Amino acid sequence: MENTDKKQVVFSAIQPSGTITLGNYLGAVRNWVAMQNEYDCIYALADLHTITVRQEPAAMRRNILDAYASIMACGIDVEKSIFFIQSHVHTHAELAWILNCYTQFGELSRMTQFKDKSAKHADNINAGLFTYPSLMAGDILLYQADKVPVGADQQQHIELTRDIATRFNGLYGNVFKIPEGFIPKNGARVMSLQNPLSKMSKSDENVNGCVHLLDPPEVIMKKFKRAVTDSDACVRYAEGKDGVNNLMTIYGAVTGKSYEQIETEFAGKGYGDFKTAVGEAVVEELRPIRERYEQLIKDKAYLESCYHKADEIALKISSRTLSKVMKKIGFVR
Ligand code: TYM
Repeated sequence: MENTDKKQVVFSAIQPSGTITLGNYLGAVRNWVAMQNEYDCIYALADLHTITVRQEPAAMRRNILDAYASIMACGIDVEKSIFFIQSHVHTHAELAWILNCYTQFGELSRMTQFKDKSAKHADNINAGLFTYPSLMAGDILLYQADKVPVGADQQQHIELTRDIATRFNGLYGNVFKIPEGFIPKNGARVMSLQNPLSKMSKSDENVNGCVHLLDPPEVIMKKFKRAVTDSDACVRYAEGKDGVNNLMTIYGAVTGKSYEQIETEFAGKGYGDFKTAVGEAVVEELRPIRERYEQLIKDKAYLESCYHKADEIALKISSRTLSKVMKKIGFVR
């Protein structure tokens, strides 16, 4: 699929650095799927991004294929959307280098994700971790994307992308489309079930804090039953009730119910009933994804044919932007 009609372009990506989480799904991937009919969608597995943190080679290979099959299983239709692997398309690393030279040290120093990750990996604060936002900016800008569906934690990187693009355009004319983040109203920041003050994350040390897309139903139920709540024993959305608020957010995101509807549904009921209902709703949402994943992961040849086709189209589209950028800067073509 090439961008020949007037539809707006959507770009987003995910790091294949472990199994996909319920947070990834509700914050981003669910929107990727929903946007496929209205937009020209281009999605990537951002494998170049994952090596900012040390990866074990065999696990990395497995994670990339697993993530590719998982995202397809969520409903990415490779006939409608382009879903490629970032490292297969060399324009990404090239534009990242160029954009590094148009991104300020001070801007990168302010990125909260850099501060968090360097605190977490104090023994490996590499330059890639620091310049990661310019690689991400390049990913988006190569495709002249209008909208970037992401969770709230990526908002700061999108803002920086806009700043870099605006700066570049100011110097060389209208080279880049200025993209906008597309952040869901519900589910933009799913929190850990064990520590509702911190984001649900693949790297959560407490296994019960994070629900994975491919967790079997009994594991999902167990995680929700153990979720941290409070002593108020009343299902209502209020300040200081972070655990319950998070469960209400997840339940609302999955069922489409508002906080008021959820409060009414569970009036007079205890947290036990509520947690069971949230767990069951998530199990039902994820069941078809897991089933589809089981089929897809068996067919490596099919997965390979999907990403090879997408890699080629992505290279063609992104090469046009990269050529324009290089010409404007003054490289001899
Ligand atoms: P990554 O791989 O950490 O996460 C992928 C997507 O999932 C969202 N997300 C969440 N949403 C809600 N609640 C959570 N707990 C949660 N955890 C993660 C993220 O916001 C993201 O949308 N740098 C990006 C990958 C990337 C990218 C890009 C994204 C590379 N290039 C270009 C957009 C455009 C990342 O590390 O996401």
